[in-house]
Amino acid sequence: MRLILLGGPGAGKGTQANFIKEKFGIPQISTGDMLRQAVKDGTELGKEAKKYMDSGQLVPDDVIIGLVKERIKEPDCEKGFLFDGFPRTIPQAEAMKEAGVKIDYVVEIAVPDEEIIKRMSGRRVHLPSGRTYHIIYNPPKVEGKDDVTGEPLVQREDDKEETVRKRLEVYHAQTEPLVEFYKKWEESGDPNAPKYIRIDGVGTVDEIKERIFKALGA
Ligand code: AP5
Ligand code: ZN
Repeated sequence: MRLILLGGPGAGKGTQANFIKEKFGIPQISTGDMLRQAVKDGTELGKEAKKYMDSGQLVPDDVIIGLVKERIKEPDCEKGFLFDGFPRTIPQAEAMKEAGVKIDYVVEIAVPDEEIIKRMSGRRVHLPSGRTYHIIYNPPKVEGKDDVTGEPLVQREDDKEETVRKRLEVYHAQTEPLVEFYKKWEESGDPNAPKYIRIDGVGTVDEIKERIFKALGA
């Protein structure tokens, strides 16, 4: 099973990715998590990416495409994978199409902007695993601590309201055109086109999970 999770910042991609990867036994490939890890490790990639991420801009396409192409060659991707936050520009989607990377489903999690702003301010993350919580909507068992490791949770650098607004703007301008891209591809009747699924992303975490599983026939 090969899936793309599409949706704005804070739509719940990371949250739902956790359920999907377990259900299907496939790795989650989050370009955001990979970049945050590189920033934390202080690598050249991390230093380059940080300035874009902190200002809510996208990291250049060639950097991201190179990163993903390397990642999907790893043995754990043989049984499939889940892209979380990738592709998020037309050139990134074209690069996968041209490389013949067949995708079964594109799952869009649709959430209005106002709801997104509410979600981001309460988000807390466990950086090493990418596990995500919300202080009110999805709290950890122990305040400030990851459920699995007990390690501390942190707030993301790019979750300031001003940066979230910038990320929303970037999403509408550069990522939303992918909706049409995939719909048109599916309508063209190409057997290699992924099936497009749109999920209403407003509701509880469990409700959204059920909607996705149902749509995937899981
Ligand atoms: P990335 O990490 O991908 O960020 P994003 O797309 O902005 O998405 P988020 O991770 O913020 O949100 P999410 O949809 O995962 O929501 P979550 O589940 O956490 O990218 C970060 C940056 O890296 C980019 O800005 C860019 O610079 C760079 N980058 C990454 N990929 C790139 C690419 N392909 N090309 C170029 N640049 C790239 O949920 C959010 C909060 O809401 C949480 O607190 C959660 O607990 C809560 N929540 C979730 N579901 C619900 C619900 N149903 N009800 C209430 N609360 C909920
Ligand atoms: Zn995420």
